[in-house]
Amino acid sequence: MSRAITALVLLALIAATGYNYLRIRSLETKNQQLRAEVYGVMDEPEEPIEVADIMTKLQRYMNKMWFAQSNSNWELTEFYIEEMEETMELLSASEVIEDNIDISGLMVKFGLNPLGKHEHIVKQKNVQLARSSYTDLVSNCNNCHKLSKHSFVIITEPVTPVYDNQDYSGANTTSGVSN
Ligand code: HEC
Repeated sequence: MSRAITALVLLALIAATGYNYLRIRSLETKNQQLRAEVYGVMDEPEEPIEVADIMTKLQRYMNKMWFAQSNSNWELTEFYIEEMEETMELLSASEVIEDNIDISGLMVKFGLNPLGKHEHIVKQKNVQLARSSYTDLVSNCNNCHKLSKHSFVIITEPVTPVYDNQDYSGANTTSGVSN
């Protein structure tokens, strides 16, 4: 083989190696990008579910609901029932297990089911019936607290509204906007 040919072959080899090197680098980069994308999707931080925050919401709605229904303000009462339903559903769908206790499962039995009954009774627009159904709901809160080792959290019927700047009477719901 002449020198010229050897040199050409060598050059061709070097070029091919260089090309392969660049190609591999670009594939590696692509691979990294794809991994980042996949992990980015997988690691998307899920909102951590805070049972205590959910409970605080339930407590607040329970307080407000008492004054709404005691004032025969059924529209507002229903509004709180719906808010509570959403709050309870969030917990029941979140598969929360604490101390081997299936909190999410218990939320269906001691939360959503009795709340559904309460909703049904509230539709009758009778303050007395709504009161006793509310009391049932409160016992369900407390029964679940017992079952989930929180028997020291005792819910009662409220005496004073949690906020003093809201009118629960529904006095203005039928009138137009006043300004
Ligand atoms: C599925 C069972 C379950 C049901 C039903 C339930 N709770 Fe709870 N509750 C818990 C658990 C568990 C805790 C403890 C939270 C924690 O570990 O952070 C708690 C804690 C609380 C607390 C203490 C947090 C605080 O801020 O003082 C309140 C108040 C509360 N619940 C209100 C209620 C009310 C009102 C209801 C009924 C409408 C209710 N809960 C229904 C399980 C339940």
